[in-house]
Amino acid sequence: MQVWKSIVEWRRRREAIAQRTVGFVPTMGALHPGHGSLVERCRAENEVAVVSVFVNPTQFNDPKDLSRYPSTLEHDLDMLESLGADDVIMPSKRELYPNGYLFRIEPESSGLTMEGLHRPGFLQGVLTIVMKLLNLVQADRSYFGEKDFQQLQAVTEMARDFFLKTRIVPCTTVREASGLAMSSRNALLSAGAHATAPALYRALTQASNCAEARSIMESSGFKVDYVEEHWGRRFAAAFLDGVRLIDNVPVKGED
Ligand code: PAF
Repeated sequence: MQVWKSIVEWRRRREAIAQRTVGFVPTMGALHPGHGSLVERCRAENEVAVVSVFVNPTQFNDPKDLSRYPSTLEHDLDMLESLGADDVIMPSKRELYPNGYLFRIEPESSGLTMEGLHRPGFLQGVLTIVMKLLNLVQADRSYFGEKDFQQLQAVTEMARDFFLKTRIVPCTTVREASGLAMSSRNALLSAGAHATAPALYRALTQASNCAEARSIMESSGFKVDYVEEHWGRRFAAAFLDGVRLIDNVPVKGED
C-alpha cells in the first residue's frame, strides 16, 4: 500500500495505472467496520483500490464539531493495509483548497432539506470536496454508505449532472448488533449514551409514523433535529449527550 500526500505524485501514479480499473472510497478517517465494508467491496470490484483520508473543513458548520472530530490515523492505515487497499491519498488542506474556498457546488435550494437545512453549508462542502476528489482520482466506481443517504443521493445526482465518468455505488449501512449504525461519531459517546443510542434505530423501524418516532426518541433522551420521510425512507437526526447522530431506514411496505 502506498500513501500519497502530494497531488503531483498521486497524478503520476494515476497515469501509471491508466489501463486498470480503479475504485475509490472517500473518507474522513476515524475508520470503522462501515468504512471497512466499502473498502472490501471496492477491493473486490476493481483492479486498484484507492482510499482518501481528509477531514474536509468546508462541510462542518460547527467549528466545535470539526475540532473534536475523531482522528485515528495509525489505526486507519493499519486497517486499510489489512483490507488490501493499494493507494491512500491524504493531501493537505492547502493542496485541496489552494486558493481557499473559492468555488463551490451549490445544490438547488429545494434540495436543502434535512442535513442541507439543519447544517448550513454541509451539502455544498461535501459536493465540492467530492467533485475535487473524483476529478483527482478519475475512478471507474466510487463507494458511498447509505447511512449518509442524503449525501449519497446528492453525490449521485451531481455525478450524473456534471457527466462525471465515475459511477457512484450505494452500499448498505453496517450496524452494531444493537442496530446502532456504525459512525465515526459513535466514538464520542459516553458508555451510557452508547447504550441508549440504539433507540434511534428502534424508533425509526418500530414507529408507525414520524411523530411517533420523534416521541420515542425524545423519551429516550434525544434532542431531535428532524424526523422526515423522503424517497421511501424514514430519516432522523438527533443529539444524544451533545453528539449528533443520523440514521435512515426504508419505510415498511415501500422496500
Ligand atoms: O462521508 C464522509 O465521510 C464525507 O462526507 C466525505 C464523503 C468523505 C466527503 O468529505
